[in-house]
Amino acid sequence: MKSFDIITLTMLTLAVGAVNADMGNWKDLYTERGKDAFVNKMKEPYIKYQNEEKNPLRSPSVRSFINKLKASNKKKMYPVMLVTALLGAQLEAKLDRKSVPYFYCKKKSKWELIWVNIEDFLPFIIDCWEDNIKLKYDAVTHVYSPAAEGVQVRVRTGIENIRFIDPSGLLKSLTGEYNTIINALESIGYQQNKNLIAAPYDWRVGADSYYLPNGIFHNLKKMIEGAYANNSNTPVVCVAESLGNPVLTLFLNTYVSEAWKAKYIKSYIALAGVFAGAGQTVAGVLSPILDGLPDFIDPNIIRTLARSFGSIAWLFPNAKYWKDYVFLSTPTRNYTASDIGALLEQQSLHGVYEMYLNNKDLTTLQAPNVTVYCWHGIGVKTPNIFQYDSDNFDQKPKVIEVDGDGRVPLPSLQVCRRWKDEQSQPVSYRSLPGVTHVGILSNERVVLDILSVATGGQPFSD
Ligand SMILES: *[C@@H]1O[C@H](CO)[C@@H](O)[C@H](O)[C@H]1NC(C)=O
Ligand SMILES: *[C@@H]1O[C@H](CO)[C@@H](O)[C@H](O)[C@H]1NC(C)=O
Ligand SMILES: *[C@@H]1O[C@H](CO)[C@@H](O)[C@H](O)[C@H]1NC(C)=O
Repeated sequence: MKSFDIITLTMLTLAVGAVNADMGNWKDLYTERGKDAFVNKMKEPYIKYQNEEKNPLRSPSVRSFINKLKASNKKKMYPVMLVTALLGAQLEAKLDRKSVPYFYCKKKSKWELIWVNIEDFLPFIIDCWEDNIKLKYDAVTHVYSPAAEGVQVRVRTGIENIRFIDPSGLLKSLTGEYNTIINALESIGYQQNKNLIAAPYDWRVGADSYYLPNGIFHNLKKMIEGAYANNSNTPVVCVAESLGNPVLTLFLNTYVSEAWKAKYIKSYIALAGVFAGAGQTVAGVLSPILDGLPDFIDPNIIRTLARSFGSIAWLFPNAKYWKDYVFLSTPTRNYTASDIGALLEQQSLHGVYEMYLNNKDLTTLQAPNVTVYCWHGIGVKTPNIFQYDSDNFDQKPKVIEVDGDGRVPLPSLQVCRRWKDEQSQPVSYRSLPGVTHVGILSNERVVLDILSVATGGQPFSD
């Protein structure tokens, strides 16, 4: 443990000084009143977002469809499994640490939320949070584990915990959350843990760990088989968002057999799939840029964490798919997806490089051979190309935006379109103008169509 030395004291004073300018008396910071002031400050950018948010369940067309389904006693109800996004599952940690990096960090705790608990972003506390949520990687065993000793982390399971990642509701714009879809399904009679199943997973780890004996794929398979059995042998409708799509596609393409899929999977609803990666992931490990994260979080902390998460390395753009597309440029070089490995080595990012090597061939762009409904936003500016003034990647690059859903560039979202020609099972594909990566989960058409597909119907607008 670092002692309370003069450097720490100076940093404390400087940092508190900066906070002080915005938030009144710094001595209040750790009182309830001080915390409220801090949290209120953090809320500001989100109040606008929340005010603009629409509740599709109030729309007349959704209400009348719900009433029709409720009244019908002949409707089928296929079990529905919801697979979460990047950042999209709540994580909790239990601490029993011998030492901590700063004197103000907790050494012991019961199981407590660490993703997302907005108070973890308080000045200083964020340093403790970084240390607890960071991963280390063993490239031989493919195991991702907490970087610090004495830290255990697990995923909060169950439908209630995938409504919001942030129970305070402040960080709603960060990732897609299933609250609206859960409410819609429950309103027509779906029951949690009976025919409505949550499949959250640790979104920090790389795909190479999914195959481990108690890994994500083992759990997914058991969950789908359980949902099937618990509902009189009825096949399951799987819904996935964002990172959940490469996860589910890889599962369907490599972990289970064709016969297994024919038996257990009714259909697969792919929402905003980041099927072939995105340029932001590479820029995010190289440079202190914030991808849609609130700017009260230090971008250097986010970069450190991104460098420790295998999921980010897995989401680097797929070289076979993007070919000679230039994601990064400096005055002396252009970098395509095939240059990423060499660039990581040149930047001495050995840890990221190892994760990249073990994950880069685990992306399957191949048709999954199940009935697919693939829907995503389009026409939203999406950062995907990063131009640097020099060969120093520590500086912020100029960001070029391309078409996409705000987070995922269009070509990556569109991979599923090719499946129409590659499989005999039906593929329904649709792009939704102006619908964002996060907004898709509360989009009226999407909600209507999920209700229809889950009850054995077709999407409305097909
Ligand atoms: C199936 O039902 C059993 C008994 O109620 C329950 O323990 C199990 O979690 C259920 N499985 C799924 C996947 O819902
Ligand atoms: C899907 O089916 C096609 C034949 O229709 C087959 O060539 C392909 O290998 C199958 N894909 C998987 C993942 O099994
Ligand atoms: C990078 O690509 C752009 C556009 O194709 C080109 O104009 C430029 O000369 C290239 N830069 C280098 C250093 O090769």
